[in-house]
Amino acid sequence: MKNLLLLGTGTIAGMHLAEFGALHDCRIVACADSLPGRADAFAEKNGLLNAFESLDDAIRWGDFDAAINATPDGVHRITTLQLIDANKPVFCEKPLAPSFGDAIEMTDAAEKAGLVNMVNFTYRNSPALQMARQMVIGGAIGTLRHVEAAYRQSWLVSKAWGDWRTEPGWLWRLSRAHGSNGVLGDVGVHILDFACYGANDEVASLRADLVTFPKAEGDRVGDYALDANDSFSMTARLKGGALATILATRYATGHANDLSLALHGTQGAVKVETDGRSSQLFVSSGKGVDAHRWRRKNVPPTRRNARAFADALISGVNGEPSFRRAAEMQRIIDAAIVSAESDRTVVLA
Ligand SMILES: NC(=O)c1ccc[n+]([C@@H]2O[C@H](COP(=O)([O-])OP(=O)(O)OC[C@H]3O[C@@H](n4cnc5c(N)ncnc54)[C@H](O)[C@@H]3O)[C@@H](O)[C@H]2O)c1
Repeated sequence: MKNLLLLGTGTIAGMHLAEFGALHDCRIVACADSLPGRADAFAEKNGLLNAFESLDDAIRWGDFDAAINATPDGVHRITTLQLIDANKPVFCEKPLAPSFGDAIEMTDAAEKAGLVNMVNFTYRNSPALQMARQMVIGGAIGTLRHVEAAYRQSWLVSKAWGDWRTEPGWLWRLSRAHGSNGVLGDVGVHILDFACYGANDEVASLRADLVTFPKAEGDRVGDYALDANDSFSMTARLKGGALATILATRYATGHANDLSLALHGTQGAVKVETDGRSSQLFVSSGKGVDAHRWRRKNVPPTRRNARAFADALISGVNGEPSFRRAAEMQRIIDAAIVSAESDRTVVLA
């Protein structure tokens, strides 16, 4: 049995409880949160025996095999490096860090220490995405020509998830000084991984537009300067030659949390849709190409990230998505920021 520390007991912590709670050989035994009282309350509510008010205290206790890092984006680097220093493997929330420099430092540190290191790109859990990728790799759609990917949320309009005007869990996502790269860093990293992984290709060059819409008086709420981007669009050329259009926004009114990916090739096309709970795959191939007909394809379940992390801990062999993969996504994000600020196409190394 592998025992885990859950660092950060905010919004996403419940998802980790559910994901790891479904495993028979890996479990969360402790939690830590720097907000006074929060870890205690979380532990009591969820039947965890150990709760700490700092990572230092949890490391001093030390009775865990690995950690889930569910702190805010800007805190990932310092806490993950501390865990690596304590010889603990880490399953880090996305984005790995707010910049490629930080992300690669974390990657190098984990690899040098020989520790399992993975990142929670949640939508790898979509069976439809996994099947679409297998079809692309197997040549089912021919040569990829066009990729269209979108991640649509609307929490800047809808109050279904709470009110961003008053809740720190949303406000830090709107503020660069609080370590956020806006929607680009927050869910943009998901859709970039989703698109590149599904297409089995990489970004060669890109041009991006980032928009921060006015939404509060003086563009500020208390300590939070609301200067992080709310929406981005990107056109990219992939290494295989395909043209990609990718967007993410928190202003897609009417959508809670919807990802879509369309991959159009010379012999067919696949479309993936997911809201994180279920996923669907649609295929146009064979005679369907001439008739513009799509059929829904049934897909088997896939190994989820939590399972992959547990397997990596047990085998000692690192799993995917790894820190290195997440650092590569961060490189694209950095390039998108440069592109938007300089109004030019950026070629990735
Ligand atoms: N994979 C996904 O689909 C997904 C979804 C939502 C959020 N996330 C990611 O999860 C992370 C957390 O997001 P959230 O929405 O739960 O944020 P949140 O603000 O609700 O919770 C973060 C928690 O971390 C605690 N914290 C901050 N600094 C700390 C420190 N140094 N030590 C210990 N605890 C500390 C805070 O007190 C808070 O309770 C972010 O990186 C976010 O991008 C991922």
